[in-house]
Amino acid sequence: MQIHKGTTRIVIPILWLGIVIKIARVRPKLFWNTFKQDLAWSKDTQKTFAHMLRHERAFHVYSNSTIAGFVSNLLEWYFTIRYGSTFIAPTYFSCGLFSVMKQVEFVDMKTFQNNARTRFLEIVPMDELVKDAHHWGSSHNFGLLCGRLVMCDYGSKKTQIILRKYGRQIDAKDLAKLLTPSR
Ligand SMILES: Nc1ncnc2c1ncn2[C@@H]1O[C@H](COP(=O)(O)OP(=O)(O)O)[C@@H](O)[C@H]1O
Ligand SMILES: [Mg+2]
Repeated sequence: MQIHKGTTRIVIPILWLGIVIKIARVRPKLFWNTFKQDLAWSKDTQKTFAHMLRHERAFHVYSNSTIAGFVSNLLEWYFTIRYGSTFIAPTYFSCGLFSVMKQVEFVDMKTFQNNARTRFLEIVPMDELVKDAHHWGSSHNFGLLCGRLVMCDYGSKKTQIILRKYGRQIDAKDLAKLLTPSR
C-alpha cells in the first residue's frame, strides 16, 4: 500500500474497496517556522504583522498548514453532491478531517504533459487556466477512472470554477485515449 502526501492531505488507498481515504494535514512546525520568520520580517521592515498577512504567499502558507485540508475535503464532497461527477473522481463522504473518494489509476506524467495539458488550453482560456496553473499542469491531480480521465484534487475554489464552466467540454474530449497509465 502506497501512501501519498499532498500539500494539504495524506491519501491512503484501500485497494480492495477501490476507494481512498483523504486525511487533512495539520503542519504545526511549518506554521510556527513561518510565523517566526514573518515576525522577524515585520520587525526589520517596520511593517505591521497585519500588513504581512495580507500578502498572498503568507496567507497560503498559514492556510495550507492549518485548515486548507479540511476545507478542500468538504469542498470536494459539496462539489460532487451539487454538480455530479463529470470529469472528477466522486467523493462519497467527508467530515472535513477525512474524506472517502473513488480511487483512480495514475497517468504517466510524460503522456499527460504532451497530450492532456495542451488539450485543456484548447477549451479553457489561458487567462483562466493560469490562475490555477500548477493544479492543471500536474498529472498527480488527475487519474483514470473506468477508461476516462478525471480530476482527483478539486478542492480549490479556483479549480471548481473552471470545472463548472468547462468540465463537461473537457470530458467530451475523451482524453484518456491519449494517455498511458503509470505507477
Ligand atoms: N482518488 C484518488 N485515487 C488515487 N490517488 C489519489 C486520489 N486522490 C488523491 N490521490 C493521490 O494523493 C495525492 C495527494 O492528494 P491531493 O488530493 O492532490 O491532495 P492535496 O490537496 O494535498 O494536493 C495526489 O497527488 C495523488 O497522488
Ligand atoms: Mg494535489
